[in-house]
This record gives sequence, C-alpha cells and structure tokens, in this order.
Amino acid sequence: MTHTDTFAGAGQLPYLKADAEVFTAIEGEKQRQLDGVELIASENYTSGAVLEALGSIMTNKYAEGFPGKRYYGGQQFTDSIETLAIERAKTLFRCDHANVQPLSGAPANIAVYLAWMKPGDTILGMDLTHGGHLTHGSPVTAMAKIFNFVRYKMKDTETGEIDFDQMHDIAKKEQPKIILAGFSAYPRELNYKAFKEIADGVGAVAMADMAHIAGLIAAGVLRNPFDDDFHIMTTTTHKTLRGPRGGMILTRGTVSNPLKAPEHTIDNLPTIIDRSVFPGFQGGPHMNTIAAIAVALQEAKTPEFKTYAEQIIKNAKHLAAFLMKNGCKLVTNGTDNHLMVIDCMTSWNIHGKETEYVLDQIGITASKSTIPDDPNPPFMPSGLRIGTPAITTRGMKEQDMETLGRFMLDAITHKTDEKYLQKIHKEVKTFCRQFPVPGISAD
Ligand SMILES: Cc1ncc(COP(=O)(O)O)c(C=O)c1O
Repeated sequence: MTHTDTFAGAGQLPYLKADAEVFTAIEGEKQRQLDGVELIASENYTSGAVLEALGSIMTNKYAEGFPGKRYYGGQQFTDSIETLAIERAKTLFRCDHANVQPLSGAPANIAVYLAWMKPGDTILGMDLTHGGHLTHGSPVTAMAKIFNFVRYKMKDTETGEIDFDQMHDIAKKEQPKIILAGFSAYPRELNYKAFKEIADGVGAVAMADMAHIAGLIAAGVLRNPFDDDFHIMTTTTHKTLRGPRGGMILTRGTVSNPLKAPEHTIDNLPTIIDRSVFPGFQGGPHMNTIAAIAVALQEAKTPEFKTYAEQIIKNAKHLAAFLMKNGCKLVTNGTDNHLMVIDCMTSWNIHGKETEYVLDQIGITASKSTIPDDPNPPFMPSGLRIGTPAITTRGMKEQDMETLGRFMLDAITHKTDEKYLQKIHKEVKTFCRQFPVPGISAD
C-alpha cells in the first residue's frame, strides 16, 4: 500500500522556506529517500496521514498524566486522541492495557525495568551478538549499571534454534525477575511458549520486546506473544508498524486505583507500568506523536496492511534465497521475518562496515551487524543486516528483490572500481524512481 494520495503537496514545506538551512537539509534528505534504496531493517516510510498528525498543532499541548487524570486543563481533545490510540492498540494486539506514552523503544524498555525491578535484580535476555538489542543490557547502557543482565543464545546458528536448556539452567541459577524475548537482528520466529514456561518456573515476568516485528504481529503474519500468555509486550511504533517514532507498553489486566501505590504483583502490572512511565520516568507525553500513533494503528487494522505485511516476508524470503543461491552465507540460512544477517566475512571476506560503505556508494543503505559470537568488534563487525519493510512500502515485489540482489553482488565484486560503482549508482536511482515514497511528491 502506498499513501502518496493521502498527502497532496507533501514535501513543499512552504513555511519552512524562511529557514534556509533547515529547509535545505530536509530537501536533501527528501532527495536521498527518493533516489536510494532503504534496506535498514528498522526503518520505514509513514503514510501522509501519519505525517500530518505528527506535524500538527497537537505538539503545542502539555498533557502530563493519563486520559481523565491530567495535571493541566484543556484536555478534551488530548484525552480523546490518547484514548483512541490506547483502544486501537488493545484491539490490534489483543491485550487489556496499553501505555502509548513512551517516547521511543528504549524508554519503553527502561520504564518496564524500573517498574518491575530493584537495583541489582537480574534480567535474562538474548545475547547481543545473537540478535539482542542494546537496551537488553549492553554494558554501555545506563541500565547495565543498575541491573544485572545475563544471556541466552542460539543453540544452532545454522537453524536459529534457541538453546532453551541453557536458558532454563541460567534461569534456575540466576533467578531473573524478567525473561526477555525479543531482538533486533534475529531472523527467525520465536517459540514464546517455551519462554513462558521457563519464566513461570522461576516466577519471572515474561516480557517480549517486539520493536522490530510489531507490524507483522499486528497483521497476524507472525505470532502474538500474548497468545502464549506473555505478561508484557514493548514495541517501537516506527519500524514494521509504520507509525511515527515512538513506543508502547502493552499488558494483560487492568489499571487499579492509579492514585494509590499498587502492590508489587503481576495483576497490578498495568498500574505499576503507567506510574513508572509517568511520573516515574518521563514528563509530558508528545501528543502529536500519540495522534500519529493512533493514525498508524488504524491503518494497521486494514486488509491493505495485512497484504503489506505478507509482502514484507515474501520479499525477505525471496531476497534471502537469491543471495544464498549466489554464494552468500546468511546467519540461520534464511529468514522467517523481515530481516536477514549476511555473514560478510564468510561470503566475501570483507567486514560488515566495508560492505555497508560499498553499498552506500551505489545508493543502497544498510547497517553493519555482529554475527553470533563475532570475533570482530561491534564497530567493525563481520555482518550486515538488511530488511524489507521500507522497500515493500514503496511497492517492490519478489522480482525487484532479484534486481536489488544483483546490484548488491555486482557492487561487491567491483568494490574498488569507483567508475563502475558510479554506473551502478545511476542504475539504482533509475530503478527506485519507479517506486514512489509515501509523503514525498517526486517533482
Ligand atoms: C528490539 C529493540 N528494542 C528497542 C529498540 C529501541 O528503540 P528506539 O531506538 O526507538 O529507542 C530497538 C531499536 O532498534 C530495537 O530493535
């Protein structure tokens, strides 16, 4: 589905022309988005309607608190917008409670950690080189200074099978308060039931960080962790869900008395989490973002969005198969979702960083990535992560994946030939100009 028709005149920015420096930079970025292929697995293009809500006057309003319980007056419209976002999120993800105020994915995770744990408590999450995210306890984060993060891994990096025996043993030994399922660079479907059984066995909360795949879950093309009785789901709203930059925390159960400190029980999670987001961790919610989240959630309910989500996975599988047929080594040898991780050292004997640079030169944007137990450091890792959400929004299909795959392989073969790379760059530009970018009129 494209949304160019919902935002006539988009990109004209008539008021902003007065600020030539910002205007010029935004115009440059607009051109970059039109002329290049976006393969960063965590990026997407929002609809014109989402952009309009995001750029609306809702940004002028303070709304500390929650609908019906605010600190300032004048909340009739903020209340109705936030309630819409909450109700739409609940319907889409089949849960009882939604907090739509986290400013992004990292603040959503932090708000959960601070809600449920005391300093020194333990979280069991996925090893970062096996696909876990920075916010799952990278030593460089503030959370790693407060909490104790321990790790599970894949048992077999050829299939992506998680080592649940290892997870069980670690859980028994470390007694984590949270067992965290979720990733930013793992290409397979997770067995949530197995996570939940281990969490139940040690009395831990089962938390799913679905930042990358929320859109695929919303569309019903990947499994919903709540169907396996997970307690908490966090997500970003701007990746496969195709909304504005934001975050949500979803839970089972309802809010008790929000004014009274609740007992620390799983039944009280919705109340504990709301209080952790505000006033615990954040100040006023960004109401323009929440309006745009409400719009994105409504779009995600449509049959067109389901078709879009199905196509994301078809495209990813097709691209993965094409690359592997042409000698490329992928972590877990394929994908079940929107992303794949190329082992560049094994495939072409170059680092992920260099691969990223070569592709940049031909107008294809991707992100370097570690591979499982990477012998190389994170700033010079062995892999490259690519994904199909953004190119699928532009309307690319299976046959286009082969064209893209060929561009990539050709560029890597000729990586030192600047002239040749310039020639491919031109071809990439001509190719991707066939596919409109929602919210940007190509004039
Ligand atoms: C799994 C996961 N969680 C959390 C985040 C953090 O989201 P944000 O960058 O919006 O703070 C990301 C971002 O890539 C992610 O992939």
